[in-house]
Amino acid sequence: MKVAIIGFSVACLLVSGTAFASEELAKKNNCTLCHQLDKKGMGPALKEIAAKYKADAEGAKKIEEAVKNGSKGAWGENSVMAAQAQVKEADAQALAKWILSLAEDKVADDKAAPAEAAPAEKAAEPAAK
Ligand code: HEC
Repeated sequence: MKVAIIGFSVACLLVSGTAFASEELAKKNNCTLCHQLDKKGMGPALKEIAAKYKADAEGAKKIEEAVKNGSKGAWGENSVMAAQAQVKEADAQALAKWILSLAEDKVADDKAAPAEAAPAEKAAEPAAK
């Protein structure tokens, strides 16, 4: 029984890897009070933020700056996020990377996909007739 439990825990660690660590980081820094992974809450869904910035070479920096300085009006007229001053520099960097990594889980079909989007998926489609 014990072996099964340990085996399960190890499998979980392998599967969730660093994503889990950063989700913990988001919890620790209170981001999850307002941001959910794929649903809009008080703030935009983290996956939507990822989709917005994934094609932006400065994306990670912009996310970090939004965390440090706050953000206003980017997601709606009356939408405001206060500066998250409690977040350590290293944590802000890790969070920015993690948020961007969420975009790779699922390429947003509803948004015009940038040129580099998932060539593997395109190749699987039948050739146009
Ligand atoms: C009190 C609620 C709240 C908390 C806590 C919060 N956010 Fe936000 N966040 C928002 C709202 C609301 C917006 C939309 C702001 C806007 O429209 O400009 C937002 C926007 C953002 C954006 C997008 C900025 C842009 O320019 O598109 C990022 C990135 C972000 N939050 C990251 C974080 C991270 C990381 C944390 C934790 C350190 C966090 N937020 C904590 C409410 C919150």
